[in-house]
Amino acid sequence: MFITFEGPDGSGKSTQIRRLKEYLEQQGCQVLVTNEPGDTAIGAQIRDLLLNPIYKGITPETEALLYAADRAQHVRQVVKPALAEGKVVICDRYIDSTIAYQYFGRQLSGEFMGTITKYAIDGLMPEATVILELSPEAAEKRYTQRAQAKQADYDVPDRLEQERAEFKERVNQGFKYMAENYSHRIITIDASGTIDQVWDAILAGLKERGVLC
Ligand code: TMP
Repeated sequence: MFITFEGPDGSGKSTQIRRLKEYLEQQGCQVLVTNEPGDTAIGAQIRDLLLNPIYKGITPETEALLYAADRAQHVRQVVKPALAEGKVVICDRYIDSTIAYQYFGRQLSGEFMGTITKYAIDGLMPEATVILELSPEAAEKRYTQRAQAKQADYDVPDRLEQERAEFKERVNQGFKYMAENYSHRIITIDASGTIDQVWDAILAGLKERGVLC
């Protein structure tokens, strides 16, 4: 089973993924938690190229190709082998982030994005996706707190966190579009509540879809 989590920076994905992992392990599942970009040796280098604020001049096409390269490696080296061993794989960000950030956010063409994504995912789509929905303002407040707690990659906001409000609003619209149009796969959860409230909603949503028992 392949489950992905999506949402803006600061929406609380890592905390909720930890909870789901614990829940599934209590049910007797073997669980692998992974993330994009950056969860392979090559991916870690790609993550720095993508997010390090020193690379300001990166073009939208280069950015999209680097996310696709990270995914091509990650799917083949990490996700597919774990699924083949019967594990549940929970991935922090996957294809919906590409659609929200590169297609909606950067406004790259559907033809280009469709082609590179097809090769990157190698046929692998998630069975279920949880989108944690949070307004860009609330998300900004949360990741400022995270940066102050020194859990961020860099001392300053990363390259995408530094993007303008219009870009973040387009990303937000992208996630909304995906949730509305792919509701058989995507469960949207209001992430503005407490950790417990959000977790209860995720659990109920996944059970309702028959993803969890
Ligand atoms: P993270 O901090 O949640 O690991 O995400 C890294 C950043 O990369 C985040 O701002 C979202 C962005 N991103 C994309 O723009 N496209 C993608 O395909 C993925 C996976 C992430």
